[in-house]
Amino acid sequence: MKTVGALLWEPGTHSGWSVEEIELDPPKRREVMVKLTSSGICHSDDHLDTGDIPLGWAPILGGHEGAGVVTEVGPEVTELAEGDHVVLSFLPSCGKCRMCVAGRANMCELGAGVLAGYAPDGTHRIHARGQGVGAMSYLGTFSPYVTVPVDSAVKIDPSIPLMPASLIGCGVPTGWGSAVYAAEIQLGDTVVVFGTGGVGMNAVQGAVHRGARNIVTVDPVPFKQEKAKQFGATHSVGSFEEAQRVIEHMTNGQGADRVIITVDVARGDIVEQANQLTRRGGVIVLTAAAPVLQRDVQFDLFSFAMSGKRLQGSLYGTTNSKNDIPLIAEMYKSGQFKLDELITRTYKLEQINEAFADLREGKNLRGVIVYDD
Ligand SMILES: NC(=O)c1ccc[n+]([C@@H]2O[C@H](COP(=O)([O-])OP(=O)(O)OC[C@H]3O[C@@H](n4cnc5c(N)ncnc54)[C@H](O)[C@@H]3O)[C@@H](O)[C@H]2O)c1
Ligand SMILES: [Zn+2]
Ligand SMILES: [Zn+2]
Repeated sequence: MKTVGALLWEPGTHSGWSVEEIELDPPKRREVMVKLTSSGICHSDDHLDTGDIPLGWAPILGGHEGAGVVTEVGPEVTELAEGDHVVLSFLPSCGKCRMCVAGRANMCELGAGVLAGYAPDGTHRIHARGQGVGAMSYLGTFSPYVTVPVDSAVKIDPSIPLMPASLIGCGVPTGWGSAVYAAEIQLGDTVVVFGTGGVGMNAVQGAVHRGARNIVTVDPVPFKQEKAKQFGATHSVGSFEEAQRVIEHMTNGQGADRVIITVDVARGDIVEQANQLTRRGGVIVLTAAAPVLQRDVQFDLFSFAMSGKRLQGSLYGTTNSKNDIPLIAEMYKSGQFKLDELITRTYKLEQINEAFADLREGKNLRGVIVYDD
């Protein structure tokens, strides 16, 4: 079918997104077609345009945070049917590989190929200007219709509004899980969250759910400092130095129990800043994406080892999509999870470059592209 999509023809060059006609194939084996309601704008898509995440291929259809209704199912799909409401997960989970059966779905073997530039079977579902187009995370939610692996689509209660639910495809579980699972926050902990955008604000929600006593957020944008309080931060400051003063005072110089890094681009110095804020035996969680080719980190290795700290990487917040996506959706439904409050502004697909400019300027917690009926 013919539809439209936002493509990068020259990733890594700051060229911006081209909204144009695309041809979308029907679902093949173990795939479904979904009509999307909306797509969140996550910072990871911007990394493709800036080159922080370099791609060796083009073009790419962007977007990996969507939700919608299944319109067609391909052969051998038994778990979903036409009309089902689904959230698209930015990482697939096959449910069969060793990591999936061990409950570590974020490490599913299928996930290793999400930036390979084609569907899991090695072919393209999207075509533009006569050539095959790769999709971000096998999804490509910057288009009102997508054809995706069934392992990337997670069914949710149809009474849950799909627009806020789209955020549960990446930023929400990534941030929340970084606090709940990766950081393993304990009751009464003092927690620092560096960067309270679409991911970090959910780390704040996760810290609340785990019963953190003090939640200190750090973000240079005043509007985000203000919003962090609504999400449960007990203190919100604008810089590392301010955080140092607050943490020192509140912990008698001991340091924070957990520090979670969810800034837009993780430079080496932020890891050492997090290290300095962390108490002996504490945990640092690195969720933010660093430029892929970055290798430089200045780090006090001696005191890190001798103070028994842990540096924990966090992919998708260490969540298990088939468990955590419906769980968060249900918590939202019962008023225990804030999703609407994350959406600062909605855009039409044609406004996508404005949406990314707003992301870079720090204007939004989350910008969301909404598709017409
Ligand atoms: N690990 C994963 O699985 C995963 C999944 C999704 C996103 N990400 C990454 O998480 C990061 C955050 O994504 P997002 O969509 O929330 O981005 P965002 O732009 O919405 O938020 C980033 C925030 O960091 C703030 N910030 C920048 N420098 C800072 C500093 N030095 N100290 C404190 N705050 C600072 C910005 O003001 C902004 O509010 C990105 O790098 C993204 O690629 C990782
Ligand atoms: Zn994302
Ligand atoms: Zn798997």
